[in-house]
Amino acid sequence: MRHRRRKRRSIILIGFMGSGKTTIGLRLSYRLRLGVEDTDKLIEQREGRSISDIFATEGEEYFRRAETSLLKELSRNSVPLILSVGGGTPLRKENRELLKKIGTVVYLRVTSRTVYERLKGDTTRPLLQGDDPYSRIRELLDSREEAYLDAAGIIIDTDGLEPEEVLDRIVSGLKDRKYP
Ligand code: S3P
Repeated sequence: MRHRRRKRRSIILIGFMGSGKTTIGLRLSYRLRLGVEDTDKLIEQREGRSISDIFATEGEEYFRRAETSLLKELSRNSVPLILSVGGGTPLRKENRELLKKIGTVVYLRVTSRTVYERLKGDTTRPLLQGDDPYSRIRELLDSREEAYLDAAGIIIDTDGLEPEEVLDRIVSGLKDRKYP
């Protein structure tokens, strides 16, 4: 019997700030020989300014609209790729549907402690600036978990894993999936 090769689908990485989406996205792109894009970087390039500037001058809602319109555009592209998206992207139902349309959604789950350790001192995440970033991380992470789970086709608990182990789990998760 002849085996037809399964059509390759895009892989989308979702997860909280500091969950490793960008790093894993780059490594996965080498491993699977697929191109890689990052919605935050695409928005920054198009706007010609940083995410912090966009939040400060236009407000969060403007940024959220830019995310949704970028996803709409990407959902019309048929070339498979690895896509990492901002931590808040899956919060809108419309975005979750777009993500599922684009490809297989992989949730890189992390604990608030890990996020805090990785991001303390970071000034590029407007939502985490303030007096008590740890509480803010916990609060945001709790309120987002449901949306992440709703979007995800594959969930990887990444705490304590090396990047290569995360990749192995993604690749075997993709093989085990019987449906997109
Ligand atoms: C955000 C996450 C950021 C960026 C923006 C808002 C969020 O992306 O999109 O600062 O709401 O969680 P990363 O998850 O890549 O840090």
